[in-house]
Amino acid sequence: MNILILGSGGREHTLAWKLKQSPKLEKLFVAPGNAGTAEIATNIPIGVNDFNTIKKTVLEEDIHMVIVGPEDPLVNGIHDFFLKDDDLAHIPIIGPQKSAAELEGSKEFAKKFMMRHDIPTAAYDSFKADTLQKGFAFLESLNPPFVLKADGLAAGKGVVILNDLQEAKNELESMLVDAKFGEASATVVIEEFLSGIELSVFVLTDGKGYKVLPTAKDYKRIGEGDTGLNTGGMGAISPVPFADFELMDKIHRRIIKPTIDGLKKDNLPYKGFIFIGLIKVGNDPKVIEYNVRMGDPETEVVVPRIKNDMVSLFEAVANQTLDSVELEIDERTAATVMLVSGGYPGAYEKGKTITGFKEIDDSLVFHAGTTNKEGKTVTDGGRVMAITSFGKDFKEALGTSYKNIGKIKFEGMNYRKDIGFDL
Ligand code: AMP
Ligand code: GLY
Repeated sequence: MNILILGSGGREHTLAWKLKQSPKLEKLFVAPGNAGTAEIATNIPIGVNDFNTIKKTVLEEDIHMVIVGPEDPLVNGIHDFFLKDDDLAHIPIIGPQKSAAELEGSKEFAKKFMMRHDIPTAAYDSFKADTLQKGFAFLESLNPPFVLKADGLAAGKGVVILNDLQEAKNELESMLVDAKFGEASATVVIEEFLSGIELSVFVLTDGKGYKVLPTAKDYKRIGEGDTGLNTGGMGAISPVPFADFELMDKIHRRIIKPTIDGLKKDNLPYKGFIFIGLIKVGNDPKVIEYNVRMGDPETEVVVPRIKNDMVSLFEAVANQTLDSVELEIDERTAATVMLVSGGYPGAYEKGKTITGFKEIDDSLVFHAGTTNKEGKTVTDGGRVMAITSFGKDFKEALGTSYKNIGKIKFEGMNYRKDIGFDL
């Protein structure tokens, strides 16, 4: 089977690494990919939203399946684009259709879905420019901190949490009236603040059956002790130590099953990954968000723990035979630490030569923002590389990653030394 992966981060390198182990795989392509995927697959320099060029490549290279890494093309309807095209309709896409991708594409859509299907989440209301005054009144009725969310995709920046009422009102006005996040903040969801510890669960569904994949916890803030600006993710651990049988049973009964049933009831066609961001409030799980894809860097710890042949797993999604698959999970803990460019998540320079990463043999090195230039591997993004290791617990796994990070060098390299500090 010839497979195309869309995307260019650590998530996509990890998926490529995993697919590469399958005897069923013939040729593997990644668009646009990075220096890591270039080692094990053919990179194709096309954007993930350039559907017409993707079509051309799929036909030219005789591609039999497309795995969509990031949310953008899904929210833009790549799955529907394939289904509507006579030349492409038979080619399976791993990722939901546009109507279902709204679970990530619109926070208001996701909230209404959860309300409709009795899925526990924070109380909320939503507002537009013409209901700004009602939004102010709603803020006044809440206790701080105030959680404001741009409805649409805002490159991970659309959630603002503020302690001060006046600042929250100003932010609401700036989102709705001044279009702070453009069209994405034409609607704003204001939510009750939930206090607790976060974790994520991942589900693979074929639209009929589903498999619950390993849990993970990521570390989003740039600074140690979860301080400073939000990033795409600075590290992750799987499994989450506090996700015991009791909590997982609640998550399954109250959240996962109603989500899958809700998709069916609402006629939302879904073949792909569902990433459910959760917060444990007391002993009860509540949903913070749905994503319609895998997480990054969560993929770098979840996928290496899946023992099944990944091509077979995706075939089962395409053929709707997931129910007959038995998932096999590595019992060990996986931990990953993200190396980032100096300055990230603010402004940073690219093109710094990376050395030492090829001398590592007891960790997995997943590239994120890297490229090859004049025979060297250089930085090409904020998040540069994720170093994943296994261990009997997360401390042992992290010990191996940190030891190996000592061998890697590039100018300005930064990483968090306290992944797992809160566990
Ligand atoms: P999101 O983009 O929806 O994942 O939100 C980004 C981050 O904001 C989450 O990972 C949480 O840390 C935080 N967050 C979102 N919603 C809430 C909420 N209702 N209460 C507390 N924290 C939240
Ligand atoms: N690590 C968070 C995300 O992928 O959205």
